[in-house]
Amino acid sequence: MSKGLFISVEGPDGSGKSTQIDLLKKYIEGKGRRVTFTREPGGTPIGEKIRDIILDPENTEMASITEAMLYAASRAQHVSEVIRPALERGDVVICDRFVDSSIAYQGFGRGLGDAVATINSFAVAECVPDVTLLFKLDPTVGISRIKRAQDRLEKENLKFHQKVYEGYLEVEKANPTRVVGIDAGRDIEEIHKEIIDKIGKLL
Ligand code: ADP
Ligand code: TYD
Repeated sequence: MSKGLFISVEGPDGSGKSTQIDLLKKYIEGKGRRVTFTREPGGTPIGEKIRDIILDPENTEMASITEAMLYAASRAQHVSEVIRPALERGDVVICDRFVDSSIAYQGFGRGLGDAVATINSFAVAECVPDVTLLFKLDPTVGISRIKRAQDRLEKENLKFHQKVYEGYLEVEKANPTRVVGIDAGRDIEEIHKEIIDKIGKLL
């Protein structure tokens, strides 16, 4: 059993995850707990290189299985190099996207199904979040909020993003104790209050 607390944050592109993670990190540090913030794909030097390959809009020929395995490879390195050691030290780990992103994007969006859970359970070796904040927002709203250049996944069509979102709703249904759904269509302060109310109890 690790001493830390593992929080993953999930949801469609542009749903406000980064904005809320910044606020949550400050809140937790204010309570005197050490926070390790990290993100996927990436989070380690090897993972960042994998991230560049996955998200490069020029890699139009990438097969869905390759994509799923690259995300899982980045994650395996991330768990071993960053997440597990931080939890063993007793940190609160906040991870911007984790296995549920692969279930939603590769499992549902790309249609790879249950194989995605199988390769990911091998990759993370039982390192599962204690709590997952799922930002619930219509994917069209999320995409419309993104002002910077879009990466390879963000450039996918609306049908893909709708399937991803349905995938997230399935993940929520299948994991009612771990996954906390957050209505991400409200204003930033209101969402932050709900999150600290839920996370504060776990610290
Ligand atoms: P994500 O990390 O999920 O992609 P971001 O936190 O980067 O999302 O937010 C995407 C954009 O939406 C940013 O420009 C951000 O300022 C804006 N944003 C974040 N939260 C909200 C909100 N609750 N309402 C409206 N806009 C928001
Ligand atoms: P990210 O940079 O977190 O995008 P955003 O800040 O918009 O949320 O993630 C990059 C993209 O990778 C994003 O479109 C979601 C996708 N993704 C997957 O398809 N599978 C995965 O396992 C992960 C971690 C991300």
